[in-house]
Amino acid sequence: MICTVVGARPNFMKMAPVILELRRRGIPQVFVHTGQHYDARMSEIFFDQLGMPQPDVYLGVGSGSHADQTARIMTAFEKTCGDYAFKRLVVAGDVNSTLACALTAAKMGIPVAHVEAGLRSFDRDMPEEINRVLTDHLSDLLFTTEPSGAENLAREGISGDKVRYVGNSMIDSLRAHLDRALTQQPWTTYGFTPGSYGVVTLHRPSNVDTPETAREIAEAIGALGADLPLIFPIHPRTLSRGGDIWNGLGGVHIVDPLGYLEFLGLMARARLVITDSGGIQEETTALGVPCLTVRLNTERPVTLTEGTNRLVAPRRDVIVESARAVLNDPPRGRIPELWDGHAAVRIVDGLA
Ligand code: UD1
Repeated sequence: MICTVVGARPNFMKMAPVILELRRRGIPQVFVHTGQHYDARMSEIFFDQLGMPQPDVYLGVGSGSHADQTARIMTAFEKTCGDYAFKRLVVAGDVNSTLACALTAAKMGIPVAHVEAGLRSFDRDMPEEINRVLTDHLSDLLFTTEPSGAENLAREGISGDKVRYVGNSMIDSLRAHLDRALTQQPWTTYGFTPGSYGVVTLHRPSNVDTPETAREIAEAIGALGADLPLIFPIHPRTLSRGGDIWNGLGGVHIVDPLGYLEFLGLMARARLVITDSGGIQEETTALGVPCLTVRLNTERPVTLTEGTNRLVAPRRDVIVESARAVLNDPPRGRIPELWDGHAAVRIVDGLA
């Protein structure tokens, strides 16, 4: 029996194709949702839109400090592992649920497979970087999405025998759902036409938890809103840490978190995306849409070398100048190798 796990929003698009491919082949699996993300708009809507089955086990852990959240997932997941005789665990990405379940399973002698292995920002201030490094070292099957993954793993002494370059399962979701997302024409909700607006997302602690940094970024998007109307679906964390800072910015439409299809459709026809998300850097590269990532580093360098992504420091002038430069002369990229919509097939081949 294979155990598949999701916990937080970015897990859903990465794991849905794997879960569905296992089902298609009739391979028995127990599908667990830790409940790290629990709001309907952060979780349920993705299940519906990605065609995922309901989880067999819901751990319902919710929010907390890192130690508290990780510990509660481990305690609950240890019991699940005791209830079933798992032959393997499959986790994805870099969220707290990923590490918590990998660590629990590894200590119980259950082999761990990691989808999206080997990415490194080399910035240990990011909780995700700690989750990535530890999850990779607990895994015996490491599925990488871009060439830097194998290089990073080799440098850390992980044997190449364990590493498989499979492409990007999140891009499987994108390719499977793009047509349906575009048919819905989500831009009409805001009175826009394709190519006449930008999209913003921000939730990283380093950007939104400190008021000075958040204010710099807010001023930048307020200034850009005068050039190009911006749609900003706001993450609950961003709202709870500094709601006022994001209010009343001209030309910026603050909306609740969006479903997968709505967001994908908006992103695909945006003139520019400004984000600090990991996944959106890859999705914009796959779509050929210009992206400015408000961070000093990225664990996804292929989006810079081959894709349409550019890094910008979280400073008002830097963001505004870079955005204007990109609007005048949009970067043209190409699609990285094996981001072809069939990564999950290769992942399940690797599991079998
Ligand atoms: C998590 C991931 C991050 C990912 C992001 C995408 C970790 C360490 N971070 O960050 O890598 O990019 O998800 O969304 O796992 N909250 C709600 N409702 C929810 C979930 C969260 O209101 O359904 C609020 C709570 O106030 C919570 C805060 O958001 O304390 C942060 O949630 P948490 O899961 O700890 O981290 P994210 O910032 O969402």
